[in-house]
Amino acid sequence: MSRHNLPIQLNSENNIIHCLEIQTLPLSVIEALIAEAAQFLKKYPDNLLKKITVANLFFEPSTRTLTSFSLAARKLGATAIDLNIPSSSTSKGESLIDTLRTLAALECQYFIVRHSDNGAVTKIAETIGNHVAIINAGDGSHAHPSQALLDLFTIKEHFNRFDNLSVSIVGDVLHSRVAKSLLAGLKTVGIKKIRVVGPKNLLPKTFADENITVYHELEAGIKEADVVYLLRLQKERMQDGLVPSFDAYFNKFGVTGERLKYAKPNAVVMHPGPINRGVELDDVVADGRQSLILKQVKNGLYMRMAIMSKIAQHRADIPTCR
Ligand code: NCD
Repeated sequence: MSRHNLPIQLNSENNIIHCLEIQTLPLSVIEALIAEAAQFLKKYPDNLLKKITVANLFFEPSTRTLTSFSLAARKLGATAIDLNIPSSSTSKGESLIDTLRTLAALECQYFIVRHSDNGAVTKIAETIGNHVAIINAGDGSHAHPSQALLDLFTIKEHFNRFDNLSVSIVGDVLHSRVAKSLLAGLKTVGIKKIRVVGPKNLLPKTFADENITVYHELEAGIKEADVVYLLRLQKERMQDGLVPSFDAYFNKFGVTGERLKYAKPNAVVMHPGPINRGVELDDVVADGRQSLILKQVKNGLYMRMAIMSKIAQHRADIPTCR
């Protein structure tokens, strides 16, 4: 929250000016982003961000998010640079904020930042956000708003509604920024039947939302679900020993073709990637007719274009070619 107790990612008219988390994004903004992404999927303005430079700063590994933000910027006509963090001056001790200030002096207006510290990206927006737009591409186990937005877009596109859907999120919810953002987004769009499924030590102790129920058995947890959303075990964020072995996890919580039959016949399987075959799911599920995993990847490109476009719309300091 900003000094005035307003979410810093919104202006006084509740329009998006940074993208930091989904928790404080109003339904109207989420709906507008989904509509814009759907529109861009058909046709997009290829010179909209012609006067803009977008800097991607990824302090953690990424394939989908980095590539899609980079391509999204280029498709809208922007110049995009992907800073190579290990060979940048951060390795000489330059602080994150000084690195951003340096790039801002080089007239970068958008910063897409992934960082291992919870809250690092919001802190950047609070420090230099008056001059540039900041987009959170995942901070620690806290938030991954563009992923949740592309997931909501994918669900809406597939079912053409959010009403009466039952969504089961399976796996390492405790350490997953994707799960936290998705749960918040599902709540905002009004999904009432939400199950989280996994071993006790990979789920938070409590959930604030009364629409969320907790399951420790996969079959019961996905029974009659419309959406089965799988999460990768966040090994890099968990203490050793939380999961006895990948095999043991797969035996209890891995989604196989057989187990998927517990969900509705037309249920879809989603996963933010990277997938681990033989851990969260088997090949039959990953490559089967119910999988939307590559659709999510594609939609991510258009949702990220929509996020950049909407932010530019509400910032007088970002020159667009509308
Ligand atoms: C996710 C992430 O980095 O949080 N990946 C992604 O952005 N698609 C999920 C993960 O790493 O498990």
